[in-house]
Amino acid sequence: MGSGPRSGTVGGRRVTKGKKGKEGIEVTIRAATESDLAAIHAIELASFADPWAITGFRDMIEHSRARVEAAIDSKGTLIGYAVAWYVADEAEIANVAVALAMRQRGIGTKLLDRILEAAATLGARTVFLEVRESNLAAQKLYASRAFAVAGRRKLYYRRPDEDALVMRRVL
Ligand SMILES: CC(C)(COP(=O)(O)OP(=O)(O)OC[C@H]1O[C@@H](n2cnc3c(N)ncnc32)[C@H](O)[C@@H]1OP(=O)(O)O)[C@@H](O)C(=O)NCCC(=O)NCCS
Repeated sequence: MGSGPRSGTVGGRRVTKGKKGKEGIEVTIRAATESDLAAIHAIELASFADPWAITGFRDMIEHSRARVEAAIDSKGTLIGYAVAWYVADEAEIANVAVALAMRQRGIGTKLLDRILEAAATLGARTVFLEVRESNLAAQKLYASRAFAVAGRRKLYYRRPDEDALVMRRVL
């Protein structure tokens, strides 16, 4: 995952309340703010061998062409996040993670659906992302929303070295 901005703008931010995940978890998806950074970064560190620095998330929150979505449970705890760029007629998913204890309950799907909704609203025609070749859980998540493998980037990842699969969905 990950790459820089190119051109375009991001519109307004929306909040979806009260939608339940597969196992009845009440999840709110809203725009992340500065006060979410510590919780986001804790999940990032627990989720990736090559984590973003916290400043990377701060930059995304502040960037006009990026959006950081936060998944919040009924107690107000941040349990997942997703970062995407929206540039002209393309969107790129740069980062997605769900807290370990909350996985496989539909939260990743809700975050992905929010990105797809935003992409359509902002005029994107295609959405793409990179994913580690070994990351079958994430590939399954994306495939469940009609993303298909469109290419490969040799040794795109470090720690450990690994190819990325490029996955793409036409809206
Ligand atoms: C990838 C990730 C975000 C998925 O989040 P999640 O909340 O567990 O996903 P969901 O519960 O919405 O599941 C979505 C689909 O993926 C499948 N899936 C999720 N985790 C899986 C796993 N470990 N093994 C097999 N399938 C899995 C689900 O079965 C579901 O498919 P279905 O709708 O056909 O049943 C989560 O595993 C995670 O945070 N991983 C670490 C960070 C990461 O790899 N991010 C992606 C980087 S590209």
